[in-house]
Amino acid sequence: MKTIYSAIQPSGIMTLGNYIGAVNNWRAMQADKNNDCIFALADLHTITVRQQPQAFNTNCWSFYALLLAVGLDVERSTVYLQSHVHEHSELAWLLNCYTYVGEMNRMTQFKDKSLKHADNVNMGLMDYPVLMAADILLYDTDLVPVGYDQLQHIEITRDIALRVNNIYGDIFKVPEGFIPKVGAKIMSLQDPESKMSKSDPNPNAVISCLDDPAVIMKKFKKAVTDSDTTIAYDPENKAGISNLLRILAVAENKSVEKTVEDCQGLRYGDLKVRVGEAVVEMLRPFQDEYKRLVNEKDYLLKCAKLGKEKAQAKAEKVLKRFKDAIGYISL
Ligand code: TRP
Repeated sequence: MKTIYSAIQPSGIMTLGNYIGAVNNWRAMQADKNNDCIFALADLHTITVRQQPQAFNTNCWSFYALLLAVGLDVERSTVYLQSHVHEHSELAWLLNCYTYVGEMNRMTQFKDKSLKHADNVNMGLMDYPVLMAADILLYDTDLVPVGYDQLQHIEITRDIALRVNNIYGDIFKVPEGFIPKVGAKIMSLQDPESKMSKSDPNPNAVISCLDDPAVIMKKFKKAVTDSDTTIAYDPENKAGISNLLRILAVAENKSVEKTVEDCQGLRYGDLKVRVGEAVVEMLRPFQDEYKRLVNEKDYLLKCAKLGKEKAQAKAEKVLKRFKDAIGYISL
């Protein structure tokens, strides 16, 4: 049995990139009987950037409903909110004492975010990777599916775990990060050289997985391509077309090669319509399920409570293992 752990922040929108590259892959991992899957809303990470309380609360409900709508199953897997399991904050504190300021200062995401939020470079922003290490290490995790931008955080998690193990013996399982093959790189529709990002100021660059069909079609029709006319998969020279082909391959559930073959002879305009329609169809059942769930607060709470209990049962054991090793008196 392999323990798989991942998390997503309940901030802004869930993009098509998050859907294809992250949560939809989580569902696929959950389907494998050899995996014990734990998925969280990283709502403690979210407040490293200032949040308006009402909007933040709405987002937490919405993202939890999104996870369930994708098909994550609270019985089979563990699907919970990070803030409900106080062991995360506690382990983050302990791990802080085994992490060097210099290491955190060098993290690229910290440097980027410090520039972007120059008026609020708070300690949490700097400590973000340590909290993420706590998330992962609390569950004796084997594998962590993430995007490219998070690989440095997995590296530091491994460094911290090894450091602790060197001092105290086998406390933490040393996890491995991996990039799921499917949909690893969903790029902006307006600038296909850069990743599709929820914080992109240009709304046409990003598909929200909750966009209406008409909006999805409109955004795909405006997608930036190139001045050529051939349909080929060539991310270097044809970034826009290649991005559309990758998205279409996922939406029609076939390989990129087969997709390229199927699309020969289409004009760019027709390809865009085809991708738009395929995405609308892929998202339809998920959007319907989301709409059904999002107002079922009692049901969502019931699921979140179950998730919390399952998560905490594991987390408290690992935390105790570490505290005992440090020398704390346990009651
Ligand atoms: N930092 C991750 C992101 O923004 C989210 C996250 C928080 C996470 N804790 C995690 C991902 C633990 C994997 C494992 O994408």
